Amino acid sequence: MQRLSIDLGDRSYDILIGSGLRARAGEFLKDVLNPSRIVIITHPSINDLYGKEVAEGFIAQGWTTDIFEVPEGESSKNLGQAEKIYDHLLELNCDRKSVLVALGGGVIGDLVGFIAATYQRGIPFIQVPTTLLSQVDSSVGGKTAVNHPKGKNMIGAFYQPRLVVADLETLKTLPQKEYRAGLAEIVKYGVISDAGLFDYLEAHYRKILNLDYECLSHIIETSCSIKARVVEKDERESHYRMILNFGHTIGHAIESLTKYSRFIHGEAVSIGMVCAALLSHSLGKCSDETPRRLKALLKNLGLPVDMPELDSSAVIESLYHDKKTMDRKIKFILVTEIGSIEIADQIMETEILKVL
Ligand code: NAD
Ligand code: GLY
Repeated sequence: MQRLSIDLGDRSYDILIGSGLRARAGEFLKDVLNPSRIVIITHPSINDLYGKEVAEGFIAQGWTTDIFEVPEGESSKNLGQAEKIYDHLLELNCDRKSVLVALGGGVIGDLVGFIAATYQRGIPFIQVPTTLLSQVDSSVGGKTAVNHPKGKNMIGAFYQPRLVVADLETLKTLPQKEYRAGLAEIVKYGVISDAGLFDYLEAHYRKILNLDYECLSHIIETSCSIKARVVEKDERESHYRMILNFGHTIGHAIESLTKYSRFIHGEAVSIGMVCAALLSHSLGKCSDETPRRLKALLKNLGLPVDMPELDSSAVIESLYHDKKTMDRKIKFILVTEIGSIEIADQIMETEILKVL
């Protein structure tokens, strides 16, 4: 098992990564908190796969443990679903020492984090991420949110978990498409901060696609460590944390213009990263080798790399709704070489149109 720490003063916590950890979450939590009770929140399918084992680990510590199911999918990340969970927590008489457990991917993690941040003005929660994306990204760093009909992640809080337990074995049951989408975020970490990670992905992509645990453990730990260092520097995204958004600017536009139905997040980010690298090259920030290597790696990982046919002016308009955009200035994370990026505070529409 690998143990990483994220140092945020009194909001610091550990990220545990390894095989078969899900049944031991209770044992790890005992070293951090003394809960009055546990409520695991998960999807029905994940409950069927892992709920019992995870719950037994908490029961073995002597803690009363309940499981609450929410339907799968992004549509569960809303205030209506949050209210159902508040109702349930009140029925169980949950107090401020109750601990919530987010067992699932980013949808569960973001929703449970939001509930934990707001129920009785804040109760502890832990993350037990079961998708690759949630193990390398959403479970770490404390961004919690629900969606509003007018936009994704519009209502939320920065609220850190007390522990992250990432069990590599859970990835065995993850659909291939979801697994590959998580790999896109790992490629992102290589581009923004670690040329060695990028080289490793290029050299080992076949083993990674075959879920080789040694490779997986290495790339997940490296990714979490990069994310932890970024969050330590800029927890509330005043500026630097934006680098985690590499590829997301156009990625979000693609997701929204295709109504969140054609591409899942990591796939849209994959295309968005290629566009951002092409834009960087066209602005003279990097050599043509950078977009070429990036595109080749993403293709090898089975990810889409070509911009779908979308109205370019609609893409530009949607960039004005990006959370990084301020005063109608479109910000972009540009790559200068693999492992190194630059935050550009304003990119002109004409420059972006060239790469769409
Ligand atoms: P998800 O949570 O919807 O999970 C994808 C699908 O995989 C679901 O159907 C789920 O039931 C299933 N699944 C999960 N684990 C499984 C397993 N081990 N075996 C079989 N099936 C499994 O998707 P996701 O990609 O993990 O998360 C996407 C969400 O994360 C979005 O809402 C996004 O906004 C959010 N997000 C948040 C952050 C953050 O920093 N907070 C970062 C990135 C993304
Ligand atoms: N997923 C981007 C961030 O946590 O900032």
